[in-house]
Amino acid sequence: MNSKVSVIGAGNVGATCAQRLVEKGYADVVLLDIVEGLPQGKALDILQSTPLLGTGKSIFGSNNYEDTAGSDVVVITSGVARKPGMSRDDLVLQNMAIVKGVTEKIVRQSPECVIILVTNPLDAMTYLALKVSKFERNRVIGQSGILDTIRFQTFIAKELNVSVKDVSALILGGHGDTMVALPRLCTVGGVPLSDLLQEQKIEKIIQRTVKGGGEIVELLKTGSAFYAPAAATVEMVDAILLGRNRVLPCAVYLQGEYGINDSVVGVPVILGEKGVEKIIEMNLTTEETAALRKSAAAVKEVIEIMKF
Ligand code: APR
Repeated sequence: MNSKVSVIGAGNVGATCAQRLVEKGYADVVLLDIVEGLPQGKALDILQSTPLLGTGKSIFGSNNYEDTAGSDVVVITSGVARKPGMSRDDLVLQNMAIVKGVTEKIVRQSPECVIILVTNPLDAMTYLALKVSKFERNRVIGQSGILDTIRFQTFIAKELNVSVKDVSALILGGHGDTMVALPRLCTVGGVPLSDLLQEQKIEKIIQRTVKGGGEIVELLKTGSAFYAPAAATVEMVDAILLGRNRVLPCAVYLQGEYGINDSVVGVPVILGEKGVEKIIEMNLTTEETAALRKSAAAVKEVIEIMKF
């Protein structure tokens, strides 16, 4: 298998994704940025770690989109990161211009690729990339639900002092304050979470999860989270390039599913070779459905700000 992944944006998220991908060893990686020297320097540094990996895969840094030609997957991380006090939605106009330009260029070079969006505000950027690329919706997918879910799983495991491996959870909705945690479906080694933690405690963990990115922004002061976002993104690349048909929450364009039209939110999908192989329409309670629709409406408001 000779797969190729391009990562646009060689900042914190992009470079960490590139490093993880090279360590996976199933694809050659191109790391691209607008800043001259930055992707070349980081790629060279990562390349020099490959003798210790023994996978034979390579990484190349570039400022030229022609080097991304024929990519199977393109990950878009280019954009401005949050500063303390900012919401993801505050980034919309700045990152819109960046994501629009980047999408036009990658589509020209890799018309068959699957695009994974990471740039925030995630759901609106996924919508924008879908419209600009004119790809089918299964090939333009946003990364957020996996990140929100792994944050939730981490906090639950810490609270219970159990292995993170045993915590199963799911978070749907937009990547922001309106995300929809589903604690009734959360289990720990098959045991319902509600048997292990009081409702108040669960609610506290959900609130910490919702503000999970903000907590890190406040600590870092000069940037936003990137290790867990990169790990979540690479989980999606794995599912696609290795044709794994994983069931994962991803941000996708909805056309009537869950009663939502013309908006992007996180829902469970089967992620495989073609990107989204299937959108899963699970049974939600009336409250959960209402929360998901509210989240989609909040995303729609951000989409409307873009007026593209
Ligand atoms: N083309 C290519 N690269 C660009 C462009 C562009 N038009 N504009 C900006 N970049 C690059 C910057 O030069 C920078 O190297 O995008 C990179 C962004 O990196 P960081 O500032 O380190 O931001 P990062 O933490 O990686 O976050 C990137 O992901 O999680 C989201 O909210 C986050 O939207 C943000 C994005």
